[in-house]
Amino acid sequence: MDHFLYRNGVLHAEDVAISEIAAAVGTPFYLYSTATLQRHFTLFDEALAGTEHLVCFAMKSNSNQAVLKVLAEVGAGMDVVSGGEYARAIAAGVPGEKIVFSGVGKTAQEMKDALTGGIRQFNIESEPEMLALSAVAQSLGVVAPITIRVNPDVDAKTHAKIATGKSENKFGIPIARAKDVYATAAALPGLKVIGIDVHIGSQLTELEPFRLAYQKVADLTEMLRAEGHDIKRLDLGGGLGIPYTRSNDAPPLPIEYGALIKDTLGHLGCEIEIEPGRLISGNAGVLISSVIYVKSGEDRDFLILDAAMNDLIRPAMYEAHHDIVPVIEAEAGVEQQPYDIVGPVCETGDTFTKQRMMPPLAPGDLVAFRSAGAYGAVMASEYNSRPLIPEVLVKDDQFAVIRKRPTYEEMINRDTIPSWL
Ligand code: LLP
Repeated sequence: MDHFLYRNGVLHAEDVAISEIAAAVGTPFYLYSTATLQRHFTLFDEALAGTEHLVCFAMKSNSNQAVLKVLAEVGAGMDVVSGGEYARAIAAGVPGEKIVFSGVGKTAQEMKDALTGGIRQFNIESEPEMLALSAVAQSLGVVAPITIRVNPDVDAKTHAKIATGKSENKFGIPIARAKDVYATAAALPGLKVIGIDVHIGSQLTELEPFRLAYQKVADLTEMLRAEGHDIKRLDLGGGLGIPYTRSNDAPPLPIEYGALIKDTLGHLGCEIEIEPGRLISGNAGVLISSVIYVKSGEDRDFLILDAAMNDLIRPAMYEAHHDIVPVIEAEAGVEQQPYDIVGPVCETGDTFTKQRMMPPLAPGDLVAFRSAGAYGAVMASEYNSRPLIPEVLVKDDQFAVIRKRPTYEEMINRDTIPSWL
């Protein structure tokens, strides 16, 4: 459930009419609901009740400072994958002991910054990375808590670009080599092995791949404990999918996912960490855009919007589907018609969808892309010199711009001219 509903024929974000925000901010912009963010976090938190746990929001899905603060206030930890994300988490007031550091290519500088600023644990993805962290920790005279990410070779049954748990993917160490790698880690100075990490992919719509992976983690925990390792924390990654359409085949709920975690791993007495991103932020955000033109092609009508692939790249990159709805609800009984919905960027890939049935729309009409709160703003670029679009947060009947639209001047002034030019 989200908090974007029609009231008196106008799409609202919580208690605010989206048309009102559009008039104040100008389109296009991202719009987030505080209540939805909190609700989704709480669903995970409650799903793990009774087990020692921490829900670490995967900031890669949405890293706006205000969004992080909303989640931190209700108790979220953060999963970061770069020095920039770490700095953002700290700037939002998240304490280091609630930040986990994931990712295959952490640099020595990023390790140093996190060790100095405070970190819950590093999720280590390779032996060279383990050696690098050992050296950095020793140079600082500290001990770095680590888990090692294992690749369980499980098919997540999701889009190839976002599956991570197959042996051919770049992530983690092969689970078959875990015994040796853990032995090496235990012998290295500056490191303390505290657990195991696994993440098999994103937008999973079935529980079975999770079950297979977590069963392997349970077996591995017992094996490593028998080898003398003190495995007390299991980081299970993120990946639970969201409904991108309003159809009946909704993905499993966090409560079912929580039950599966307890069922497969509960007997081990470990602290559980999860790193959901999309399920918390995805349906807590929409992208609002206006129609610039309706263009009649040879055999089809194009709806040319003021949002483009640089603002929301998911359809171009993953053939992702986003529901697109008019902000002013169509009158009952109005006949829908097919449109190719595109942006102004100069390439054919700038097509959000083809032959989508919509009520008739005219220039100036507002549309909302649903499920755009995750991997929307964070993946945006200024391609075609289109400035990054604003982000707006709603809480009850209030709204605030939480990242403003840069002016052309601000965008241009990020470039600098060398002295010889
Ligand atoms: N933990 C790790 C180690 C991850 O790599 C990811 C996502 C997550 C947690 C969060 O997964 P989530 O709960 O959001 O599914 N840009 C793509 C998604 C890429 C996901 C990458 N890793 C998209 O727009 O669909």
